[in-house]
Amino acid sequence: HFRCSCTSMRQILEMPKFISFSGTVWTQNILSLIFYEGHRNGTEDIVIMDRVPWLEYNVNNLDLANLSSPRLFFTHLPYYLVPRGLRNRRGKVIYVARNPKDVMVSYFYFSKFMIALETIPDLNTLMERFLSGKVVYSSWLDHVRGWYTHREDFNILFLTFEEMKKDLRSAVLKICNFLGKRLSEKELDSVVEQATFENMKRDPRANYEFLPDTLVEKSKGQFLRKGIVGDWKNIMTVAQNERFEEVLKEKMKDLAFTWEGES
Ligand code: A3P
Repeated sequence: HFRCSCTSMRQILEMPKFISFSGTVWTQNILSLIFYEGHRNGTEDIVIMDRVPWLEYNVNNLDLANLSSPRLFFTHLPYYLVPRGLRNRRGKVIYVARNPKDVMVSYFYFSKFMIALETIPDLNTLMERFLSGKVVYSSWLDHVRGWYTHREDFNILFLTFEEMKKDLRSAVLKICNFLGKRLSEKELDSVVEQATFENMKRDPRANYEFLPDTLVEKSKGQFLRKGIVGDWKNIMTVAQNERFEEVLKEKMKDLAFTWEGES
């Protein structure tokens, strides 16, 4: 009974594989909870894909230009492909980055259960593709660097998955302040409570469990898998970590981007 059409969902998944795994669904849900009272108090059952639609793939054929204000979108695009208006600082951008090792590991598991995606045989293969940017949406390293070094061109708030995980309430407050949205303490509590991993996993508007068996092999995984920081430590070998760190340090050494409690 949800408004998200599975035919459209199939179209997305048959497109080249997309890479994100940094907290998109999480942030979509937070925005929906902040802006839509009916989402927050559970009186409406519109899936987050319709509340905060995908900018570059209009999967549900929404009239994006005429959505009521404020219009909320999510995107995985690099800074140079987003609508020009954003550069005039007319729109606001929230950029969520996650430790790339956790991003890669999240993708590794995701590819196993999403039928339309090529199952990557082993982590080494994925790691080499990931580090050389041979994945859709291109290189994670270039993506983060691009947005970060061009931050002055945008009205942008940078968040990390790790800080959201460490203190979700502060992250939600940061988002509210950035977007000029005032919530009462009670409303804020409600957003934070419903945006926890455990509650999102149970929330059919946010957990993507409505995807049919033709798209996902449910016995092999879930969209909301573990939602933790540092899961890479459970799968990457010492040698793989060294290789990854070597490339990361070389490419990111001049950027002030760090992940607390990592490495
Ligand atoms: P894991 O595979 O490590 O569990 P995206 O939406 O950008 O594709 O990111 C997916 C990742 O975000 C998955 O990571 C998923 O579990 C995690 N995630 C989604 N909602 C979350 C939440 N409320 N708290 C923590 N992690 C969450």
